[in-house]
Amino acid sequence: MSIHVNESSKVFHLQTKKTSYIFRVLANGELGQVYYGAKVPVKASYDNLTRMEEHDCTNTLDEQQTDFQLELIKQEYASLGKGDYRVPAYQITATNGSRISEFKYQGYQLVDGKQRLADQPSSFDDDHHDSQTLTITLVDKLLQINLALHYTVFEDEDVIVRSATFTNNGDDVFINRVASAQLDLPDADYDFLQFAGSWARERHLYRNHLRPGSQSIESVRAHSSHQENPFFILARPHTDNNQGAAYGFNFIYSGNFKDEIEVDQFDTARVMVGINPTEFGWNLKANTSFQTPEAVLTYTTDGLNALSQQLGRFYDHHLLNQHFVKQERPILINNWEATFMDFTEDKLMPIVKRAKELGIEMFVLDDGWFGHRDDDRSSLGDWFTDEKKFTNGIGGFAQKVHDLGLKFGLWFEPEMISIDSQLHNAHPEWMITTPGRTATPARHQFVLDMTRPEVVDYLVEKISAVIETTKLDYIKWDMNRSITEMYGAALPADQQLEFAHRYILGVYKLYDRLIKAYPNVLFESCASGGGRFDLGMMYYAPQAWASDDTDAIERILVQDGTSYGYRPNMWGAHVSAVPNDQVARVTSIDTRAKVAYFGDFGYELDITKLSAEEQATIKEQVAFYKQYRSLFQFGNFYRLETPDTNDNVYGWEVVNDDQTEAIGARFQILNGANPAYIRYYFTGLNPEMNYHVNDDPETYSGAELMNAGYFVPRVMDRTQPEKDPADFYAHLFVVKAVK
Ligand code: GLA
Repeated sequence: MSIHVNESSKVFHLQTKKTSYIFRVLANGELGQVYYGAKVPVKASYDNLTRMEEHDCTNTLDEQQTDFQLELIKQEYASLGKGDYRVPAYQITATNGSRISEFKYQGYQLVDGKQRLADQPSSFDDDHHDSQTLTITLVDKLLQINLALHYTVFEDEDVIVRSATFTNNGDDVFINRVASAQLDLPDADYDFLQFAGSWARERHLYRNHLRPGSQSIESVRAHSSHQENPFFILARPHTDNNQGAAYGFNFIYSGNFKDEIEVDQFDTARVMVGINPTEFGWNLKANTSFQTPEAVLTYTTDGLNALSQQLGRFYDHHLLNQHFVKQERPILINNWEATFMDFTEDKLMPIVKRAKELGIEMFVLDDGWFGHRDDDRSSLGDWFTDEKKFTNGIGGFAQKVHDLGLKFGLWFEPEMISIDSQLHNAHPEWMITTPGRTATPARHQFVLDMTRPEVVDYLVEKISAVIETTKLDYIKWDMNRSITEMYGAALPADQQLEFAHRYILGVYKLYDRLIKAYPNVLFESCASGGGRFDLGMMYYAPQAWASDDTDAIERILVQDGTSYGYRPNMWGAHVSAVPNDQVARVTSIDTRAKVAYFGDFGYELDITKLSAEEQATIKEQVAFYKQYRSLFQFGNFYRLETPDTNDNVYGWEVVNDDQTEAIGARFQILNGANPAYIRYYFTGLNPEMNYHVNDDPETYSGAELMNAGYFVPRVMDRTQPEKDPADFYAHLFVVKAVK
């Protein structure tokens, strides 16, 4: 049993394999946080941890209990206006305009397992394998509103998932803000690790110590954004990949979010995860409920690799589409960087045929196959074949691809509309605009109002027809702009602040309907690369295009940052042409592949234009990836602590569960002048086992490879600088246990 309730002391102790999360009922009837961290024994109460001392100049509960001062108390789900001036978890405006609430503990319910949420992505435990769910009910008698705080404990993965539901049994009220989880920590000596960037530069790691005041990451773009990812870590300053304590927080949501950490006057830290209060409000009418998306919390004392790995196991077992989770993902070739929109069936077929000869398994036709789309000014919404490009229809082309023995994938951007489209002629009112205001374009396109059920119906119908005529295997679902002029023409004025949340619920509905109707179609999400790389999307589409940047060196930073909060098989990674389309850099085809192996591998270039030698290299790369695909896609991923002070070296490794096979990579950005002898330190091997490295005939113990390291030859081949430059060099070490 993982949840322990002490009925008399009203202490709730949630335990995972290695962590404890403890809270209790406070004297004011609300919930107080006691402890979250490494596992401690279950006790009746934790008086020592809940002692109070009166401070001057601070509000008290009442005239008698003067040592009960909310400002000093760690809480589970705090309100504003009763003496705690830190950021609140929620705020409700009553019919009379009051924003004060007094929710008091009423009871709890404990069940095995975890139900999926009805209308949004969520964690689950369909076979009730290792989870328990605790729901605490609190009531505000004046407002006649119930607040349910949900906690699911995933014991094996050391994860706790939280959300909150408000149910209104009284008069209509307005929810101003609503978080999914709050965590009050007793001190603030943590580094804040965030994953920030921009288009083509997503999820780079930034690590800073917490400072007094509020610090946050957020999006108001109506998608989780390239700029800030909802995943973040609070780690002790000495914590690194291999050791040390850290909390990880993620959010099963794809819309506007805000993760906030407030370091208060006492140097304690309050963490808040939830929907962004900016551009949000919810009209909670009588007899209705509102449930927040789910927040994911995890903790470890074993370093950041352990943190990433336990989250990865949680996603595998309790978040991702179970149909695909252990299916090897196909090696694909995508035509985008090969042709952009300038193609016809005749131009594509040689690429398809050559792909087959080289062992590639799926052809993905990107943007430009529909309507009359030759550039990005038209046709979004017109999901039917451009007959100029495909005289036998997209179905005829798909048939040819399938006949060659390749799978077939197609690009869609379902949520968008071009002014120059049949859809816009028929339904201009489906485009998001604010009455009387100009509509702001981005990439010459506009956004469909996904809050309207008829828009979702239209898209289901059009996309289904294409799936059926093409017997489609895969969909790349793109989303190439942030939303402006947010307004729902079908919503009343007093519900306009619900728009952004309702928009993403509409997107989820569309995904849900398509996945239920076509369970064998693999979805990859994309938003100009990694603009919606989040757990909400991952629930439906188990992989996402990590970044539009396909340059190997930039990709090292993107994939390295992404790996803190997500597993490598959750991102697509492709070998593209050089000079690179985004940064004009030239790297060898060898380095490009070695970076892309750590992900769902593929190609994105015109292979027919490569030399015979390069094509032969691709054939070898494809065969190599097939041989080790399950290791790359399902193995335990490690970021290595590379002994380098200049950020010039990155190291990754994947190891299988029984530690008999591993592949390590060492990426060196610039070649050093007159360097020391270099050693590569493996991790995650079994110290007792013996291994071979590449074709080196000597046998090495795991202990030697991990502790003493392995010699890395200097890169000094001057013979082929074009083909094999000494800069941007990647070493790969295939390690196998000696039988
Ligand atoms: C976005 C995607 C690209 C490609 C183009 C097509 O930028 O991220 O991979 O699909 O759209 O327009």
